[in-house]
This record gives sequence, structure tokens and C-alpha cells, in this order.
Amino acid sequence: MIYLVFAHPYPSQSRANQMLLDAVRDLPGLEVCALYDRYPDFDIDVGAEQAALMRAGLVVWMHPVYWYSVPGLLKHWFDKVFAYGWAYGDGAAALQGKDCLWVATTGGKAESYSANGIHERPFADFSRPIEETARFCRMNWLEPCIIHGAHDLAETALGAHGQALRERLEAWLALKVGAGNTAIDVSPSNTATGP
Ligand SMILES: Cc1cc2nc3c(=O)[nH]c(=O)nc-3n(C[C@H](O)[C@H](O)[C@H](O)COP(=O)(O)O)c2cc1C
Repeated sequence: MIYLVFAHPYPSQSRANQMLLDAVRDLPGLEVCALYDRYPDFDIDVGAEQAALMRAGLVVWMHPVYWYSVPGLLKHWFDKVFAYGWAYGDGAAALQGKDCLWVATTGGKAESYSANGIHERPFADFSRPIEETARFCRMNWLEPCIIHGAHDLAETALGAHGQALRERLEAWLALKVGAGNTAIDVSPSNTATGP
């Protein structure tokens, strides 16, 4: 199954991430953990999270980018759940080979993440810690789905991103569940902006 960790501190105020989640949440085989709803006191049930990850073949992290990184509770989730001896370290292989898809939205537009933009660097520079977290645990890092300029995107554009994400997850499910189609493209559709 797919385990989608949704990390928005204020889901009722979210436009972009809520639309992305709504676009995929009814997919069969998808389990959603709305992190801030489940753990409002930051008291993460490590055993439950690790069990969910063990069931998953694909792990999705979906969140707004906060200060060039993940919201605090998702960082805490990494700290607690990706434990030594389980996720990494001698003989640890719990996450090995699982696919990992990072879905993140930014307020900054794509061009603001460049040498001449306000953020001075390509977005890929900021994505490195997230990518390496997955790679360090020997997960299979898929091409991320990064949606820039989330505030300024029209509903139709956000809807297209949601649909593209849905198609990507459907393709993954079809491939893994063995629907008999071996020619499915699980790369991002050209409607999604890469980092
Ligand atoms: C505390 C905070 C920090 C933020 N940091 C960044 C940032 O580092 N880079 C950026 O491009 N946008 C940043 N933003 C903008 C959010 O990424 C943006 O509001 C979000 O992606 C919109 O998605 P939503 O509609 O689901 O909330 C920040 C917003 C907040 C509230």
C-alpha cells in the first residue's frame, strides 16, 4: 500500500496541500496519516508509524515548505520513527527498497529559486536533506513533485497538479499490484514542476 504522511499544521487554512490530498485520498490502497491531527501533542506512536511503514511499498511526504524544510512535526516524525537499528545502522533494513515520493509546495515561485532570485539557489539545494534522509535509509527516491508559487496558482492549475499526482499514484499502484500493465509510466506528468 501507499502510506501518505500529510504534514500541514493548519489543514483548514491550506489551499494547495488540501487540494492535492483531496485529489488522491480516495485511492484504494492509500493510507493517509494526517500528522497534526493524529499527534497534536507531538507524542508520536513510533510503533504504529513503523508498522504502517512496514506495510507500505511507497511512502509519500506531503507538506508545505517551511523555512526551506519540512514543518516541525514531520521533522520530529523523522527523528522518532527513523530509529537507529530500524531505519539505519548495522543490519537495519526496514525501509530498504521502499519507494519514496516527496510532494511539497512553496510560496516562492520557481524563478525565485535561482542564483538571481530571492532565495539565491536552485530549489534542489534545499531538497538535499530530505532526499538524503530517504537515501540514508536505503529508500528508492522518486522524482519529487514540487509545486512552486502555491499562493498564486489558480484553482485550475492546482487541480491539474492534483490530477497529475493522482495519475502517478495510480500508475504506481497498477504496477505494484500487478494489473498486468508493464509499460506504465510512473514519472511525473509534464504538468508538475520539478525542483
Ligand atoms: C512558517 C512558514 C514558513 C515558510 N517558509 C517558506 C519557505 O522557506 N519557502 C517558500 O517558498 N515558502 C515558504 N512558506 C510558504 C508556504 O510554503 C506556502 O504558504 C504553502 O506552500 C502554501 O500551501 P498551503 O496552501 O497548503 O498552505 C512558508 C510559510 C510559512 C507559514
